[in-house]
Amino acid sequence: MRYSDETIAEVFARNDIVDVVGMYVHLQKKGANYWGLCPFHGEKTPSFSVNGNKQMFYCFGCHKGGNVITFLMEYENISFQEAVKELADRSGIDLPEVRETEEDKRNRNFIQKLFEVNKLAAEYFFKMGKTERGQMAINYFKKRGLTDETIRHWGLGYSMPYSDDLYKFLKSKDYSDEFLKETGLVSINEKGAMDKFWNRAMFPIMDERDRVIAFGGRVMGDGEPKYLNSPETKVFDKGNNLYGLNYARHSGKNAFLLCEGYMDVISLHQAGFTNAVASLGTALTDRNALKLSKYVKEIYLTYDSDGAGTKAALRAIPMLEARGITVKVINMKPHKDPDEFIKALGAEEYQKRIDNAESSFFFEIRILASGFNMEDPKEKNDFYESVARRMLDFSNELERSTYEEAFAKHYNVDTRKFHELVIETARREGPRRPSYRTDTGEERIPKKKFENAAEKKLDDKILQPQRLLLTCLSDDPTLYARLAPVVSPSDFSEGIYRKVAELAYNFCRESGSVNAARIVSCFEDREEQEKVGVIFQTDLPGEVNDAERSKAIEDTVRKIKLNSVEDQINAAIEAGDGQKVNELLKLQVSLKNRSNKLL
Ligand code: GTP
Ligand code: MN
Repeated sequence: MRYSDETIAEVFARNDIVDVVGMYVHLQKKGANYWGLCPFHGEKTPSFSVNGNKQMFYCFGCHKGGNVITFLMEYENISFQEAVKELADRSGIDLPEVRETEEDKRNRNFIQKLFEVNKLAAEYFFKMGKTERGQMAINYFKKRGLTDETIRHWGLGYSMPYSDDLYKFLKSKDYSDEFLKETGLVSINEKGAMDKFWNRAMFPIMDERDRVIAFGGRVMGDGEPKYLNSPETKVFDKGNNLYGLNYARHSGKNAFLLCEGYMDVISLHQAGFTNAVASLGTALTDRNALKLSKYVKEIYLTYDSDGAGTKAALRAIPMLEARGITVKVINMKPHKDPDEFIKALGAEEYQKRIDNAESSFFFEIRILASGFNMEDPKEKNDFYESVARRMLDFSNELERSTYEEAFAKHYNVDTRKFHELVIETARREGPRRPSYRTDTGEERIPKKKFENAAEKKLDDKILQPQRLLLTCLSDDPTLYARLAPVVSPSDFSEGIYRKVAELAYNFCRESGSVNAARIVSCFEDREEQEKVGVIFQTDLPGEVNDAERSKAIEDTVRKIKLNSVEDQINAAIEAGDGQKVNELLKLQVSLKNRSNKLL
């Protein structure tokens, strides 16, 4: 299903970004922009800007940017269609009926009904908590230190000790057996219907948009299984959801606390740590890590302090770091988990543990160390060698030497000798990463993740000028007349950049201005939209006067042309077109001659 371009244009026309963002963020005008605290990462001084002329937002802190539609998508975590619908509704635009296949419609209704039945069940369990029998569960929660307010906040409740209590209730609401089978709340066979949960303390599980998607049920006291969770359904995807995320995302903190259990999350929130989340009864998944990375760049692991918790932490660290998250590990000893820690020592002590959390690196090294007997010289040496090998994982030389020094200091070894061991280990690790000597004779190991450095270089050399030119064009569309004869969209890199250039040129040709906000929404994929949003935020550094600006634009055009010609030469060589190669080489020479003005 798709909305027409006219509809989208009308949505933009009737929803000024300053007004819409202003409903969520307190904005203040300063210069050409409005400024406020970024809703996408925690901060104390405003780096989030909204530009009314461009109808775009951009955060100089977390580099999120986009238009009014992507703002809403990001803020409410909704799809493009949903955001368009919401903006249209608010501004009184009648949306044309979107054509939907019968199957799409059935699917949508089914999902909606699943949310509805889960919500109904949550309300029912909550109500059962108020009954005489339900006092068992409420007393259980209270015995564990939860207040009435907390019980209400998390919607905690009780499932009655009869095998088909919820089933009967849901039947009274006219749900069919066929549908109820799909909810995970009951199982139905020849012998009849049976509730999934009975006589348990109930935890509704919400997605990040506050919709009930499943339940966890705990035995009140000892018993097996301790927790029972809903099976996966069309709305419950364990690996993609996190308990407490619906609250944590609005905590205004720029780091999350990641723990193991529901009770840990609830206790932490009650103690004021409203940024706590937990994975749902399974180990952290890569999709969890990806989702977390959309909210925060720093995570404090507060897993159980037993062997299993340590193992889970060692597994989670690289997953989170691969998504660009910095990880620290909280030590809760002598207590088992955050819930028990807070009950025993209180929030203030816990805050101290947060402040003293160990970097993931030292945590890993400490665990590694515990596997060696340091009294034995041979084992001690093996330990150093393992650490040296671990050092080779750092892609950045400076970063690695910082860690080498920190390790040496912490473990009382000679920095220079340890560095030599790292070099030696690198040499032994095989020919893929041989060491080399610099001009000054110092021995170095080439960077391991060369792809990244190369990618960055490529970006600086090729994409940065393209971004800059597109931003200049959107700021001053009169540039188009001079630009068009010299640079064409085909001079831009294939993919997003070329498509954006085409759209920008079309806008200039047709309306004499670049509608950056509209261009963002020409892309369907969210990650693409983010990239496009950033393209139009590439300003010249510092204040520049008109002459400097002209010169910078001229230089930029030259860079883009030279990169493009280089690509064309390579293509012509590959195609064996000698004549073309010659022409292009001539063009290249003339482009390199700065006295040939391009614009
Ligand atoms: P409490 O004893 O209530 O404090 O639980 P906990 O959070 O300390 O429990 P634990 O560390 O044992 O488990 C952490 C999480 O794993 C729980 O919140 C559940 O999501 C899940 N879990 C624990 N026990 C079971 C079980 O028996 N079955 C399933 N499916 N999940 C469990
Ligand atoms: Mn616990």
